[in-house]
Amino acid sequence: MSRILEPEVMEDEAQCLTYAKADFEEENQGFVDRFRDYYPDMTEGHVLDLGCGPGDIPIRFVRALPGCRVTGVDASAAMIRLADDAVRAAGLSDRITLRCERVQGLRLDEPADAALSNSLLHHLPNPLSFWYELKRLLKPGSFVLVMDLLRPESPEEAQAVVDRYAAGEPAVLRRDFYNSLLAAFTEDEVASQLAELNLSRLLIDVPDDRHWVVGGRLY
Ligand SMILES: C[S@@+](CC[C@H](N)C(=O)[O-])C[C@H]1O[C@@H](n2cnc3c(N)ncnc32)[C@H](O)[C@@H]1O
Repeated sequence: MSRILEPEVMEDEAQCLTYAKADFEEENQGFVDRFRDYYPDMTEGHVLDLGCGPGDIPIRFVRALPGCRVTGVDASAAMIRLADDAVRAAGLSDRITLRCERVQGLRLDEPADAALSNSLLHHLPNPLSFWYELKRLLKPGSFVLVMDLLRPESPEEAQAVVDRYAAGEPAVLRRDFYNSLLAAFTEDEVASQLAELNLSRLLIDVPDDRHWVVGGRLY
C-alpha cells in the first residue's frame, strides 16, 4: 500500500483537545523510559521535542531527568496552547519552553544536546526535511530518539490495528489513528531516509506491531 498523506499540522481545536485528553500514558512514558535506557549517561542539557503536541512527553521527560530542560516545538497554535496549560499546571514553566513553529527552518541560539520526536514524521510530506533539520539542530554526539507508526500493508490491516488498540476511543481519535497509519512509513523507507542523509549510524528497531524507533548518537 502506498503512503496516503494526512494534513501536516493538527490545527483543528476539537481534534487537538481530543488528542490531549486521550490516554497515551503507556506509549509516552514508555518513550521516556526508553530514552533513559538507551542513554543512562545523559542526565543534563538542552533537549528538543520536535512536534511536541500537548506537552505530555516534555513533562514526563523533565520529571524523569531533573537536570534537563526541554524546548517543545509544534507548528499548531492549538496544540501549543494546550501544552502551555499542561506545563503551567505541572509547575514546570521554568524547565520547559514552548515554541509555536515548524521544525523546518527552526533557529536555536546554539545546537541542542538531544532530540526527541514521537509521531511527527508521518505528518511530513517530505520526511528527508526532518532528518536534515535534526542534523542541523543538534551538536555532534547528541542523543536521538525518534518514534512513529509503521504503515500496515493494506487499509484492512490498518483498520484491524485501530480495532485492536483503539476500540474504546472516541471516533475522532480512531479516525486520526487510521489516517496516521496510512500516512506512516515502513521500516525500509525509514532506513532509506537515514541512508540518504548519511545517518546510518542511527539504528532502527521495531518494538511492536505498529511502531518503529530510531535511536543513537548523531555524528
Ligand atoms: C500526532 S501529534 C504527536 C504529538 C506528541 N509528540 C505526542 O507524542 O503526543 C504530531 C504533532 O506534530 C505537529 N506537527 C506537524 N507538522 C509539524 C511541523 N512541520 N513542525 C512542527 N510540528 C509539526 C502537529 O501539529 C502535531 O501536534
